[in-house]
Amino acid sequence: MTFSFYGHACFAVEVNGKKLLFDPFITGNELASAIDISSIEADYILLSHGHMDHVADAEAIAKRTGATIIASYEVATWFAGKGIEKYQPMNTGGKWTFDFGTVKCVNAIHSSTLPDGSGGGNPMGFIIINDEQNFYYAGDTALTLDMQLIPMFAEIEFAVLPIGDNFTMGMEDAVQAAKMVQTKRVIGVHYDTFGFIKIDHQKAIDLFKKNELELILPAIGETIEI
Ligand code: NI
Ligand code: MN
Repeated sequence: MTFSFYGHACFAVEVNGKKLLFDPFITGNELASAIDISSIEADYILLSHGHMDHVADAEAIAKRTGATIIASYEVATWFAGKGIEKYQPMNTGGKWTFDFGTVKCVNAIHSSTLPDGSGGGNPMGFIIINDEQNFYYAGDTALTLDMQLIPMFAEIEFAVLPIGDNFTMGMEDAVQAAKMVQTKRVIGVHYDTFGFIKIDHQKAIDLFKKNELELILPAIGETIEI
């Protein structure tokens, strides 16, 4: 399985030959200025919540690629109002099976206002259940005991967790999240982009190591084999 990091909380994973793009925020991210969004392919675009730093490039990429947007009912129908024809409106606790696997929406403790001030419904995390590797993307969230439910839904091979603190979990809480989710491998996202969320990378890696966990921090633009 390949994992491509596009900065902030934006990444793409190829699952069963389908390209899943998560939370595209690239053109507004100075750290990702080397990435040309017209080069990104997507069959599906999953949006964890309505905040600008998760949806900014979704409309442009969906319109160019014809990708299906998967998001909360409120976020998905907001994009439908912008002329996106293929979308899957979901909500917390629900699951749906697509041609690449099943998406289960789980709780995230955060907020979810869309860029124009519209309500984005519940913020969510996603479990991607498939026959290659199941993984969990937490979205923007606090550490929450609800994460203990996740291993009941699927055995998680790796988790993509925010580690930048201030707006989401920080590295210490992300360690506890990995333990609740029962995975040893974590890819850290949602750090360094703004002044509020700058972190010491080595400190984070060492903290995970001390807890017998692996923290992977791919470079922006890097594709890794996971
Ligand atoms: Ni957010
Ligand atoms: Mn965010």
